Amino acid sequence: MSIHKTVKRVTTHVLHEMKERGEKIAMLTAYDFSLARIIDAAGIDVILVGDSASNVMAGHETTLPITLDQMIYHASSVVRGTERALVIVDLPFGSYQGNSKEALASTIRIMKESGAHGVKMEGGEEVIESVRRILTAGVPVMGHLGLTPQSIYKFGTYTVRATEEQEAEKLITDALALQEAGCFALVLEKIPSALAGRVAQEVKIPVIGIGAGPQVDGQVLVLHDMLGINKEFSPRFLRRYENLYDSIFSAVTSYTSDVKRSDFPSASESY
Ligand code: KIV
Repeated sequence: MSIHKTVKRVTTHVLHEMKERGEKIAMLTAYDFSLARIIDAAGIDVILVGDSASNVMAGHETTLPITLDQMIYHASSVVRGTERALVIVDLPFGSYQGNSKEALASTIRIMKESGAHGVKMEGGEEVIESVRRILTAGVPVMGHLGLTPQSIYKFGTYTVRATEEQEAEKLITDALALQEAGCFALVLEKIPSALAGRVAQEVKIPVIGIGAGPQVDGQVLVLHDMLGINKEFSPRFLRRYENLYDSIFSAVTSYTSDVKRSDFPSASESY
C-alpha cells in the first residue's frame, strides 16, 4: 500500500520515505480556504502557498510585489482548509534576502500567524546561512533552484535555465549545499530534464519539479494554471486538467441572462 494513502498528515519524514520507496509526490499551489479544502480532500501531498499568488490572485506581472502580510493572509486561509497535506509557504521577495536574522523573523511570523508547516525560499549558496538559522528554530525549509522568479530582473526572461555547463554545475553545487544545510526538499523550476534527473539522483532529499521533466521525485503546478482558469499562460510543461475559464464564463453568462430575463429566481427558489 502506498504510504501517502495511509498517513493522517503528510510530514517531511513522509516525503523522505516516499522518495526512498520511489513513490511520487504530488504538490499544487493554493491561496485560499475553498480551493485548499478541495485539493486536500482529493489527496494532494503538499500544498504550496506560492508567491505566484502575486500573479494569479493579485494580477501583478511578477512575484515581487506580494508582501509578507499578504502571504500570511493567504497561508492562514489555506491552513484552515487543510487536514492532511503538508503546507509550505513561500518567503516573499524582500522578506529574507537582507540577512539570516530577517529571514528567521519573517519565517517566525509565517509560522505563528498562519499555522503552516514550513517555508520555501529561492536561491542557492547565497541563502545557506538563512536556511541554517531557520532550521535552528525547528522550521523545515524547502529550497528552490533553476528559474527563480524573484530574480526575473537579473535574468531578464522566463526561459529554460541551466542549459549551459557552467550554470548546470552551479545548480548541482547549490543543490548539494542546500541539502547539506538541512533543506528537507528542493523545487527545480524549468531546467533540462536530464539535469533535474541527475540532481534527484545525487541528493537524498525529495526533488519536486516544475518544467523539469519526469526523472524527479514529484511534480508541482500552479493550481490556477492546471485548472485552465488562465488562458494566456501556456508553457510546454503545463498540462491543463480542466478548462475552468470557459466553464466559469459560460455559467456567468447564463446567470446574467437568467437574471435579466427574470428567469431567476423561480418560485421554488423563493421564500
Ligand atoms: O510560487 C509558486 O507558485 C512557486 C511554484 C511555481 C514552485 O514557487
